[in-house]
Amino acid sequence: ARHLLGIEHLSPGEIRTILDLADRYVELNRRTVKRTDALAGLTQINMFFENSTRTQASFELAGKRLGADVMNMAVAQSSVKKGETLIDTALTLNAMRPDLLVVRHNASGAVNLLASKVNCAVINAGDGRHEHPTQALLDALTIRRAKGRIQRLRIAICGDIAHSRVARSNLILLGKMENRLRLIGPPTLLPAGVADLGCEIFDDMNAGLKDVDVVMMLRLQKERMDGGFIPSEREYFHRYGLDAEKLAHAAPDAIVMHPGPMNRGVEIDGVIADDINRSVIQDQVEMGVAVRMAVMDLLAQNLRAERGRAAAGGID
Ligand code: CP
Repeated sequence: ARHLLGIEHLSPGEIRTILDLADRYVELNRRTVKRTDALAGLTQINMFFENSTRTQASFELAGKRLGADVMNMAVAQSSVKKGETLIDTALTLNAMRPDLLVVRHNASGAVNLLASKVNCAVINAGDGRHEHPTQALLDALTIRRAKGRIQRLRIAICGDIAHSRVARSNLILLGKMENRLRLIGPPTLLPAGVADLGCEIFDDMNAGLKDVDVVMMLRLQKERMDGGFIPSEREYFHRYGLDAEKLAHAAPDAIVMHPGPMNRGVEIDGVIADDINRSVIQDQVEMGVAVRMAVMDLLAQNLRAERGRAAAGGID
């Protein structure tokens, strides 16, 4: 494929190919010298219209470690602030002939629309409530390395599922890999049509966490609640925040995940988040760089092949 817009377009075989290559990049990233030349000569532009720490930093590092020329568009200082639209901004950058565009936007579907207007590879770095495909891939790599497999696991996704693109991409990926999925959260924070997702649904943490292998916590996304019901943080932590008492219901070797940024004392107790025997939250961050390297390497291979075919056919 030319782009990575969502997990929904990937087959289980393609997911495994990305994870296998990412495993190799984990080893490279643990060396003192981390450079390779898979993207040498290519230009990567990162366009983040929403805030980011992990995703933006890891895409930038990933591109640099692969030898690309990387440019971060400073949205706050750009002509977006003068009213230029996403598409006009993208077309302007496209005219500078980038090879990879990494895009985060607060509107669901914005990245798909942009991909139809440009002639480089586009990677969705999170669009509204829709998808965050590289997050689901890095979560899958983290689970596979911790558990030795990414199939037939009991996995609970907990909290604000309705507003979470992370949950959506994970549900698609973990479902494709034939895991047993549970959703735990208040009914007001479950997505519409939840009954059709093929997951078990719980609004009680202790019951939902019983014997699970993986506990995936989510941030309470107040910025996407646009006028709807916002639970009190104290009450939310009491009922849905992950603490030692609730975690005791999971399997004794269950891992704890969170995509970040975390609200300590809201969806997760800081003690659990920092417990290196249970929490793989920092592993998720490490896997993020490797997964993004793998994704960009594979897309660059496809782009070069596509351009080679076009040149052979006299089209460019
Ligand atoms: N998990 C995640 O997407 O984090 P950032 O918003 O910091 O990129």
